[in-house]
Amino acid sequence: MVAQTLVDHAVEIIRSNDQGTYTVPTHGLYPFQWNWDSALTALGISFFDEERAWTELSTLMDHQWEDGMVPHIVFHKEDEGYFPGPDVWQTSRKVPTSGISQPPVAGFAARKLFERAKDSTVSVQQAKQLLPKIDAWHDWFYRCRDPKRTGLVALIHPWESGRDNSVDWDLAFQRVPTDGVMPFQRRDLQHADASHRPTQAQYERYIYLVQLFRSLNWDNSKLHDASPFQIVDPGFNAILIRSCADLADLADELGETEIAARNRARAEKGARAMETLWSDTHNQYLCFDRRLGKSVDNPSIAGLLAVVAAVPQNRAMQIGARIMELGETCRYLVPSQPATSPHFDGKRYWRGPVWLIVNYLISDGLKRANQIDVAERIISDSLDLIANSGFAEYYDPNTGEPCGGKSFTWTAAMVIEFLTQARAQT
Ligand code: DGY
Repeated sequence: MVAQTLVDHAVEIIRSNDQGTYTVPTHGLYPFQWNWDSALTALGISFFDEERAWTELSTLMDHQWEDGMVPHIVFHKEDEGYFPGPDVWQTSRKVPTSGISQPPVAGFAARKLFERAKDSTVSVQQAKQLLPKIDAWHDWFYRCRDPKRTGLVALIHPWESGRDNSVDWDLAFQRVPTDGVMPFQRRDLQHADASHRPTQAQYERYIYLVQLFRSLNWDNSKLHDASPFQIVDPGFNAILIRSCADLADLADELGETEIAARNRARAEKGARAMETLWSDTHNQYLCFDRRLGKSVDNPSIAGLLAVVAAVPQNRAMQIGARIMELGETCRYLVPSQPATSPHFDGKRYWRGPVWLIVNYLISDGLKRANQIDVAERIISDSLDLIANSGFAEYYDPNTGEPCGGKSFTWTAAMVIEFLTQARAQT
């Protein structure tokens, strides 16, 4: 398929998932607005409708909580086809939302939208409205998820990472009990193959945590310390650090010097603290289990995604080399878990499959660190996957089999990015 056909197809998918002021990730499996899906989707939308791209971000930020948190799902409309819905979350919002957050890519996306804007009146106006909200969200993370002020935030639920069933959580999940978990019926299995999805045992623990936080009335001054699951994820922190740095640059452009200074300070502190997550044994960053006070001995994609932040040049080179090594063991980069790992499962969500959004973020970071060959290999593998297997949610890194949901919005958005932006910059 030639590039133009792929771009046309991607635009068609995004349009078919467009709900007017937000976009669903895919019909059926995910019928609401998801946080980082939306922010990354805005990048793809900007290719054909700049104003609509800003709306995607502003709709998301309109549902920010008073404490600064931006929820991972906004339940704009009722839909029986998803579990857990608003009746389980019980967050008492006028428009119901979930009660946890997700990787904060909004600052990163807003800066990109601003830089590429053709309509500067709209972009200045939109960016000015978003700035204080994104700043408040960043503040919320460091206030509520880093109470000891280490410079790194912890996740308190795997759904916050976006990498729901990563091998990284296996050990910590042994500490999460299942007693008192309500009986429930999963809906994801009506829309996707069970062998591609998290297990029932994992779902019980996801729900245990939701019930625990709900019993604390979603009071973010209590949730971090109360959670048996507290993981510092290098990929997640790198996204936050990058978004702080990008928001600082954007704020400077708009003359908002205080917002710029605050975010630059957060990014600098975070970047220094990231070094504590480096592993010489694995040649990459690792997660850290804050409850145990120990690093998680698993070289997942989280430690490679770290390159999306401005890590030291030697680290970027080590990550580049590590990714090329992974490329020797599977056909398509970048597997979410190394194909040689005993825990690898090529089709099961985040235990092996390749995700285009992560490929995009990693390749963006690698290019900034001048690791052009590695970035190009990742982009080329990503486009091969699309040409061979269509616009799926994720893909088996060995066979390229499309997995999870189909006609997937952010996959389409990333294809547009790869073909119209990422390639153009190199
Ligand atoms: C799901 O339902 O699978 C989501 O990843 C949770 O946000």
